[in-house]
Amino acid sequence: MPLNTSAAKDMLARLETSLSRQLDHLFMPVRRWVREFQVSAYAGQPDEDPSYPAGTGYEIASPEGEEVEDIISIRGLTKVFGSRPQAAMRMLEEGADKQEVLERTGSVVGLKDIDLDIRKGEIFVVMGLSGSGKSTLLRCLNRLIEATEGSIIVNGIDIRKLDDKDLLNFRRTQIGMVFQNFGLLPHRSVIDNVAYGLEVRGMPLEERRAKAQEMLELVGLKGYESALPSALSGGMKQRVGLARALATDPAILLMDEAFSALDPIIRRSMQDELIELHDKLRKTVVFVSHDLDEALRLGDRIAIMRDGQVVQVGTPEEILSNPADEYVASFLNGIDRSKVLTCESLMKRPELVIPLKMGPRTALKMLDDSDQVIGMVVDKDRRFVGLVKAEDILRALERSAPLSEAVNDSIRTVTPDTKVEDLIAILVETDYPIPVLNDAGVLIGVIYPGSVMDKIRPDEFVADKEEVMA
Ligand SMILES: Nc1ncnc2c1ncn2[C@@H]1O[C@H](COP(=O)(O)OP(=O)(O)OP(=O)(O)O)[C@@H](O)[C@H]1O
Ligand SMILES: [Mg+2]
Repeated sequence: MPLNTSAAKDMLARLETSLSRQLDHLFMPVRRWVREFQVSAYAGQPDEDPSYPAGTGYEIASPEGEEVEDIISIRGLTKVFGSRPQAAMRMLEEGADKQEVLERTGSVVGLKDIDLDIRKGEIFVVMGLSGSGKSTLLRCLNRLIEATEGSIIVNGIDIRKLDDKDLLNFRRTQIGMVFQNFGLLPHRSVIDNVAYGLEVRGMPLEERRAKAQEMLELVGLKGYESALPSALSGGMKQRVGLARALATDPAILLMDEAFSALDPIIRRSMQDELIELHDKLRKTVVFVSHDLDEALRLGDRIAIMRDGQVVQVGTPEEILSNPADEYVASFLNGIDRSKVLTCESLMKRPELVIPLKMGPRTALKMLDDSDQVIGMVVDKDRRFVGLVKAEDILRALERSAPLSEAVNDSIRTVTPDTKVEDLIAILVETDYPIPVLNDAGVLIGVIYPGSVMDKIRPDEFVADKEEVMA
């Protein structure tokens, strides 16, 4: 259930408020006339700062766009398992599907014509049903599986063209892999398991142990250096796996169902730790999972695979708000959107932003000119100061007080990352639009209460009949 009943009732009440606000707008000309009359009572007292003439737009900072750099670029990637890959490829080119290729050639299409760009520093989750090609895709990235067609550029290296020696070097330096079944060496101590990758690189014992020690501390396993893997729980084993993958300081971590063997509580805490580690180390992580909750928790972006193809790539929010087809939508059934959607997807540009140092009369005129009841007040650095209402400005004018005295500064605010779940708790307690501030307190958007309900109610998903899953 996406919302509890009382929250839903409150939301309906907010919708009513927003309706009455719209009615309010119909009376705007009358109000304006009355207001002009009231303001004229203060004629001859110029605003203290005329540098913001009425009606001037005030540029608001947009959410800062991070620089995007791809670390992995995949083009036309196809993998056919079986003895007749060329015949299978020809059939694929002629438009045959996976089943037809299997029936006619006995070959299995693992991946079909995949184009994908993975960004430096992101956690990229690959998900899909069993057999959809997730592991095959991941293993093509370090050539544990050799692709049949296509190109894979990793950190500028065309990895399909590497010879054996360069491939070995590439695997040892650029890529770390964490497996579902941990893949630890049973007769080696924890620290020597972690140091393994450094050992094959030829690093001297002291040096590699010191590095392994550092990694063990990073994953919270200090004190277990000399234990054997058999003495560890599943969660601890996977921490060793993670420490081992990180020890060689690879640019990219490949993780195939790395937490699927763990029980739910340990799994959840490993997910949290991965997020923490990722914040610290900013490695690119390609994470395979068939679990939607895990994908939504971990993924900066998610690719959804079906029958060897990528059917959709996007942020969790993009996929939730706009599933590409019925197959994707079927993954999303039962998901509580308010737990995933963030304020960033709901916020709008503030309709009226008033600089704090503006005179009250000018501010009042701006409110009227823009048909707004409430304005957002910011300081010279565009940091949010509070909300201002026309009647409060009038009261300030009566006392010849500056605009700052009309500002209500005890307003609940959110950040772009605030989950809608937490926003709702704020909405039910307030009548105002909610300002969205970045970490520096700069106003970057506003959430109008009426717009929230539509976003979190799962839409009836109408798929094109031809696209409906068989
Ligand atoms: N070594 C192989 N030989 C033949 N077919 C294979 C081989 N490995 C994978 N396949 C086939 O390729 C397709 C994709 O398999 P893959 O293991 O990538 O799926 P997956 O999405 O990882 O599934 P799961 O969630 O079960 O791990 C499947 O149809 C599978 O049967
Ligand atoms: Mg798999």
